[in-house]
Amino acid sequence: MCGIVAAIAETNIVPTLIEGLNKLEYRGYDSAGIAIVNQDGVERYRALGRVSELEKKTQDLKATAGIAHTRWATHGVPSKRNAHPHVSGGVAVVHNGIIENYESLREELIAQGYVFESETDTETIAHLIELILKTESSLFEAVRQTTQKLVGAYAIAVIEESHPELIVVAREGSPLLLGVSESGIYAASDASALLQVTQQLIYLENGDIAQLKNNQFCITDQAGTPVAREIVVSQLSADAVDLGNYQHYMQKEIFEQPDALANTIEIVASSDQIHTQLFGAQAPQIFKEIDRILILACGTSNYAGQVAKYWLESIAKVPTSVEVASEYRYRTTVPNPRQLVVAISQSGETADTLAALRFAKSLGQEKTFAICNVPESAIVRECELRFITRAGPEIGVASTKAFTTQLAALFMLTLAVAKQRGVLFPAEEGQYLHELRHLPAAVIEVLKLENSIKVWAEKFSSKQDAIFLGRGRHYPIALEGALKLKEISYIHAEAYPAGELKHGPLALIDSEMPVVAIAPNDELLEKLKSNLQEVKARGGELFVFADQGSHITQSDEIHILYLPEHYGELSPILHTVALQLFAYHCALMKGNDVDKPRNLAKSVTVE
Ligand code: AGP
Repeated sequence: MCGIVAAIAETNIVPTLIEGLNKLEYRGYDSAGIAIVNQDGVERYRALGRVSELEKKTQDLKATAGIAHTRWATHGVPSKRNAHPHVSGGVAVVHNGIIENYESLREELIAQGYVFESETDTETIAHLIELILKTESSLFEAVRQTTQKLVGAYAIAVIEESHPELIVVAREGSPLLLGVSESGIYAASDASALLQVTQQLIYLENGDIAQLKNNQFCITDQAGTPVAREIVVSQLSADAVDLGNYQHYMQKEIFEQPDALANTIEIVASSDQIHTQLFGAQAPQIFKEIDRILILACGTSNYAGQVAKYWLESIAKVPTSVEVASEYRYRTTVPNPRQLVVAISQSGETADTLAALRFAKSLGQEKTFAICNVPESAIVRECELRFITRAGPEIGVASTKAFTTQLAALFMLTLAVAKQRGVLFPAEEGQYLHELRHLPAAVIEVLKLENSIKVWAEKFSSKQDAIFLGRGRHYPIALEGALKLKEISYIHAEAYPAGELKHGPLALIDSEMPVVAIAPNDELLEKLKSNLQEVKARGGELFVFADQGSHITQSDEIHILYLPEHYGELSPILHTVALQLFAYHCALMKGNDVDKPRNLAKSVTVE
């Protein structure tokens, strides 16, 4: 997704802008650009492809004020012409988000004589500011008036040649924050871009416009009235995102899972009891009052919710529904004020999840709970209760440690709700917490299977399509395994509950259609074995992730990998780790850019 960095300081800001863009690379992008302003005017540099290309072009550039951007194409193809910053006269603009009324604005501007160089919605913003500046001397005022004409979501940063000492930024819908230090003032769409210079951050609110000048900033609302915004000291550390000895962030993040899980469950590390207050002071009361749970999330986070539905209904006995956020936000539903609305998001900024959460609240469902990996994110700020997973920054576009820590958090939530509702016996509570504490060690054992998984990936990577099968709480893990494989290896993969096979997908099975099956030694194993036989009988090749005690007969068509132990309720987490390694090695065999898969963005902050 697009990223913004802006800086105004006493010393050269170009290295800060480039480093900021490097830190934003993980969000996914297709081009990058910088514009600086000094006494000679505005200079712009753009490159298609990597930030490193832009860095080569700006090696000798020096300036004390500038804006920079990584673009992820929405309006117009990835190209240098469409890369930001966009300029009009002496104005340069970078923009995240989507301007919904850009076509009518564009027509108006063309009628006024403006010529468009790009296909982007952003260029309309540059021309609008330039137009207003013909009669208005203040850049801040020109930006403020421009924002009043924009419909949609945006975060923008603007410089202008007759104001070399000034940057103006504004936001509505898309995230934007300021960074404050003794030597400069900064802005970015994501805290990770600013941690190199400061940990003192100010999260701008919708409608905010800020002027950055002379090491000072002033924030107003859209009417131009000054507003106060709190400075928060970020808990994130700048070096938490270095690659270290790993080849890819995804690989690093897969192998960080034992630590990420240990950190996330630390809160129950030395206790045989789950304390409901760990989800917030109001949690005991709220968990007692609720009669349903509604989970809202997208992609991998949605699959975490789907696993949790099995736990919440079987252990906590609470009816639970899981909705894809982009569907829920536009659906007519039956609101229930006694329903706990749980928003799950790694980034906490996913536009659809945030909108679905707001929509749920607008229907009078005020009991809200966030499970998120970014403490300062919008979703966390807008929920009454929260649990912050402690996965650390996740850079690879394909979510790994964020997902397994979400599962750990959801399991703890299940236990807390069950306890508060009086359906969890002390012995069970102790046993579940014991299993939870064993999780990091159990994951370490699964990671040791990497070499065997690599051998499978060698066989598998030439395939065009695949079917994933799972049953019960492992069905969402089949969905996640298929998503991971398609995201990074580009192999077409679909997942089904194994019992659904004979209701249609079986027609696809032949020697060219491999089937990946998740076969833990649980109550559904015998049913699943029958499904595997159905595949074998049609000439399909099976890759089965089993576990101790699964006892499946190996043959030329059935390859089996045994996970070191059967892990009961938490087994989905162990199987996930094996499937992550499988997708990673398939993608590696194909020579794909594992951390930045084509067309995808890390943080989907547009609809
Ligand atoms: C996961 O591998 C994906 N990249 C994607 O499905 C992701 O989980 C989804 O976009 C939701 O993101 P969030 O958790 O940050 O809200």
